[in-house]
Amino acid sequence: MKEITQELLNSFRAPAFPGSFFLSFEGIEGAGKSTQILKLQKYLEDKNFRVLILREPGGTQFGEKMRQAILETKNEITPLAEAYLFASSRAQLLSEVVLKELAVPNTVVICDRYIDSSLVYQGHSRGLGVAEVLNIHNTFPLNLVPHLTFYLRIDAETSEKRQKIRNAPKDYFEAKGIEFYKKLVVGYDLMAELFPNRILKLNADVTMDAMTMTITEAVNKLINQNKNSDLEEDI
Ligand SMILES: Nc1ncnc2c1ncn2[C@@H]1O[C@H](COP(=O)(O)OP(=O)(O)O)[C@@H](O)[C@H]1O
Ligand SMILES: [Mg+2]
Repeated sequence: MKEITQELLNSFRAPAFPGSFFLSFEGIEGAGKSTQILKLQKYLEDKNFRVLILREPGGTQFGEKMRQAILETKNEITPLAEAYLFASSRAQLLSEVVLKELAVPNTVVICDRYIDSSLVYQGHSRGLGVAEVLNIHNTFPLNLVPHLTFYLRIDAETSEKRQKIRNAPKDYFEAKGIEFYKKLVVGYDLMAELFPNRILKLNADVTMDAMTMTITEAVNKLINQNKNSDLEEDI
């Protein structure tokens, strides 16, 4: 298996566009990603940011077709094939949408799942190896990562409970047992250790309002840090 070196980790950086931010939400099904993304969108729009929400795979015509193909397939896709499929949709999304949008000042791009989902699902849970998936992404623009990633952490049992309440039909990834979810949580915890500056690991087994407050506080801190560093550059 390939090694995760510091050099490899250092090649992943957030894009530098003044006044614009790239965020992602991660966590297993039912963690509250979609719920919190909508709340954050409203919060940021009230602060006069342009907000764009993207989901993976998808967000481009090519990506949406690929999403359908993956979700509808009756055959098992190998982890390597799956990792490249997601990376290819991501590369297209970055060039076609993310980079162009972030170039407009005052924009926040929020991804509902991003690189960490590939690292956890294909790299960790399906056994391809986290280093292998990092290596697949080690080419511009795939080596661009969010400024901040919210990892909403719930355990597998809470996920199951929330999914039952939601009662949504299970898709390709969701139709797996509790053991699969437990492995995903371990994988996500590992990612939070690997990228401690980027990934904010949050206990998501709290009320929706408490979660929203924690997230908006962290986003405010990020925005203010950025303002301060702009001021320093002016001096
Ligand atoms: N903090 C929370 N406490 C309890 N239930 C929640 C919380 N956040 C979300 N939910 C509920 O859990 C389900 C899954 O939330 P959702 O935002 O769709 O999660 P995800 O997008 O991560 O799968 C929904 O029914 C939602 O209303
Ligand atoms: Mg969702």
